[in-house]
Amino acid sequence: AERTLTILKPDCVKKNLIGEVTRRIQEAGFKIVAMKMVRLTSDTAGGFYAVHRERPFFGELVEFMSSGPCVPMVLEKENAVADFRTLIGATNPAEADEGTIRADFADSVGENIVHGSDSVENGKIESAYFFSESEVVANKA
Ligand code: GTP
Ligand code: MG
Repeated sequence: AERTLTILKPDCVKKNLIGEVTRRIQEAGFKIVAMKMVRLTSDTAGGFYAVHRERPFFGELVEFMSSGPCVPMVLEKENAVADFRTLIGATNPAEADEGTIRADFADSVGENIVHGSDSVENGKIESAYFFSESEVVANKA
């Protein structure tokens, strides 16, 4: 099945929402095939979001993503990339559909609880950013 990479962002961890958000992800049919807790540095956060390097919010994004621990996970499901973005809702929680994770829990466009890969290809690149082959449980013999 298809895979996507999510990060439960530092605001999710600070608000004690790891359990609730993970429950919703599993309830929606996603299988967790890798997960860990990490504290990003400015460098590793900036590397992860390198495509946004020239955007005006890049500094804020890096500062926020390195402000506390976060929980990356690799998720598996048919149509995982698109279905996960539907589950989390729009980047700006004020524009996110009712019942989505961002609509229910996010405070702002900058602090929006979760990341979701935007393509299958980027999902693979982003998964490799956090997990070695042997850390993805379903890859093991
Ligand atoms: P991700 O799943 O985190 O990649 O979000 P996205 O794909 O919905 O949005 P995008 O990739 O365009 O932006 C990446 C992240 O940058 C967003 O999740 C926000 O946290 C942050 N971001 C985007 N736009 C703004 C903005 O205008 N201000 C601030 N502070 N952050 C922003
Ligand atoms: Mg994105």
